[in-house]
Amino acid sequence: MGAGQQKIIIANWKMNKPDGALEEFFQTLDQEQTELVDLYLAPAFTMLPTVCAAANMRKFKVLAQNVHHQLQGAYTGEVSSLMLRELGVAGAIIGHSERRIHCHEDDELINAKLQTCIQQGLTPVLCVGETAAQRADFRAVLRQQTTLSGVDISKVVFAYEPVWAIGTGDTASDEHIHAVHAYLRSITATTARILYGGSVNANNARSLLNIAGVDGLLVGGASLVAASLLAICRATP
Ligand code: 13P
Repeated sequence: MGAGQQKIIIANWKMNKPDGALEEFFQTLDQEQTELVDLYLAPAFTMLPTVCAAANMRKFKVLAQNVHHQLQGAYTGEVSSLMLRELGVAGAIIGHSERRIHCHEDDELINAKLQTCIQQGLTPVLCVGETAAQRADFRAVLRQQTTLSGVDISKVVFAYEPVWAIGTGDTASDEHIHAVHAYLRSITATTARILYGGSVNANNARSLLNIAGVDGLLVGGASLVAASLLAICRATP
């Protein structure tokens, strides 16, 4: 995903519109050297065509927030990897905890989504992470969530998002993030790109990006304001 070993910053807008008009958002991004990071915007499906058109002329790329595991067929309300590829989308966030919790997505379904996504040449960003109740046992949770079959793991970007840190302002400690990233690398691949997500903002981005093993950030709320997304991009060491 992206050239070289630049840090990856993903803006997951979830079911929100960013502050202000989209064109203004893009213009703010234009003012800065966002080429120093691999920047991805992940808008809701309705905004994908506009954001993809803008990405053609700019330095960021586009991700979907979800994708179906089949390529086409009678799946009302769903969108496939094939459709995303045709639109110019670079990849998809898969297995976000909000989808695991609210849409009851399980590891088997997530595995199937990873397969079709990779088959279509898209980059999957696989979200993993423990809930508050699973905190003491995070290794077992992560092992289960990363036990994949028929998936070329070298094509997967991992995002460690402890569920208790999402939208709470309660960022995981540097020690915990370091330990988890090292563990994830040991059970995935030494070359895997592993991002951190969970209450990332303009103030904590630099120290998070400085933790050994953190290859980038998956940002929710703070990515809806262009100025704060820029500040996060600029925090790259
Ligand atoms: P917040 O940055 O709002 O905590 O959300 C994190 C997240 O879920 C990104 O996918």
